[in-house]
Amino acid sequence: MTSRGLILGIESSCDETAASVVERGSRTLSSVVASQIATHARYGGVVPELASREHLRAIVPVVRAALAQAEITLGDLDAIAVTSGPGLAGALLVGITYAKALAFAQGLPLIAVNHLEGHIHAVLLHEREAEKQVLRLTTLAQDDKSVVGKGQELSLTALAQDDSFEVSRKEEPALALVVSGGHTHLYLCRPAHNAWTYRLVGRTLDDAAGEAYDKVAKLLGFGYPGGPWIDSLARFGNPLAVPFAFSQIKTKLHLAGKAPRTKAAHTAPIANLDPHFLFSFSGIKTAVLRYVELHEMRPEAQARAARLFAPQICHPEQSAAESKACPERAEGDLRLAPRPPQTKDEALALCPQQVLDLVASFQHAVVGDLMKKTFAAAESLGARRILITGGVAANRELRTRFTAEANRRGLRVAFPTPALSTDNAAMIAAAAWPRFLSGEFADEGLSADPSLALGR
Ligand code: KG4
Ligand code: ZN
Repeated sequence: MTSRGLILGIESSCDETAASVVERGSRTLSSVVASQIATHARYGGVVPELASREHLRAIVPVVRAALAQAEITLGDLDAIAVTSGPGLAGALLVGITYAKALAFAQGLPLIAVNHLEGHIHAVLLHEREAEKQVLRLTTLAQDDKSVVGKGQELSLTALAQDDSFEVSRKEEPALALVVSGGHTHLYLCRPAHNAWTYRLVGRTLDDAAGEAYDKVAKLLGFGYPGGPWIDSLARFGNPLAVPFAFSQIKTKLHLAGKAPRTKAAHTAPIANLDPHFLFSFSGIKTAVLRYVELHEMRPEAQARAARLFAPQICHPEQSAAESKACPERAEGDLRLAPRPPQTKDEALALCPQQVLDLVASFQHAVVGDLMKKTFAAAESLGARRILITGGVAANRELRTRFTAEANRRGLRVAFPTPALSTDNAAMIAAAAWPRFLSGEFADEGLSADPSLALGR
């Protein structure tokens, strides 16, 4: 291997085509994400056939942009990592096929990464980058004579690089909540040599939390994905206006032998899991629907959807951002997604206060349920800290409330940056690093596994 330990990560499991170069699993040199939101927004969800087509269009420019941003060429890489599942079969295959071709052409090892493990590594990557930053700043502050300062900085950075996978045992096991559009899963994570082991300890029985956000947003006539819309709008509503309640999933008996009603990865039988750590988000979606019907809010929501998705609504600055990531799409395709409101006036121009109260109450209940079960699992399983990741981890109320409760309990809680919370390829390249160190490479037969599970 070259001294740099450079891994190109490729992610195409759902509606984001992403590529990133990460050095030694702990320093992001580039991270490029081409979103397909504009394509899927009008359908209120991801259309698998359209997703594959968009990945095909974006994959080459996105990988090129990631290499250019990292200021390297393919010849500088040490390995190529790609998401092999779970996700949409056709979408995954685009990334896998391209990664295989690149690896073969460059004579580089190929590393298959589980998307869910990638999400967990997004938190670890962010932590490692933050630690290195602190080390560097401390060293620079220690001595203002630049020659000595520089030398110290170099040696400490090298040390941090060598130790990048020496996880602190004082803080393990960690409990990871992966909360995204396809998953709401709890894993107990333990370090083992340079890698990690994962044990599934909880999961949703039906919809994922992100899926509930997306469905409620669609029902209320907002954009896709629904999470960022509800996140923005909920700030202006009363979270206690509608008393949504989650009932405790009581007994294992009625679950025995039942397959979960979810698109998520296959896992161990639900009956083996503690029912206190099981989630269910289809009920709250139905409760919102009943509320909307009872209060005759449908016509107003439908009118809003028609307004939002009228062809003339587009944002020039979004076009510029998209064209950076994916010039091919920006040139030929002007369908752009509307954006969530940022101020109360903008929110009220979009919907009445009653809708703001409804989304605030929905979010308050969802975050409350995620907290209740995650903290119960952390306590019962002796977790020393909590890692929260996946698209829903970008949510502001979720971050604030989890952090406050963790502080109250004297537990540490960590999140990725909001950009690393949603799908990206830096997390894939970071998760590949321990596999690279232990020589765990994929062969040319690697294929997509749409329901690939993580851990036991
Ligand atoms: O991790 P992700 O990008 O893709 C999957 O692996 O599924 O997660 C996407 C999900 C969507 O359901 C989206 O609505 C949700 O994450 N999401 C959010 C926020 N940003 C994205 N949910 C709540 N608040 C947000 N700010
Ligand atoms: Zn994801």
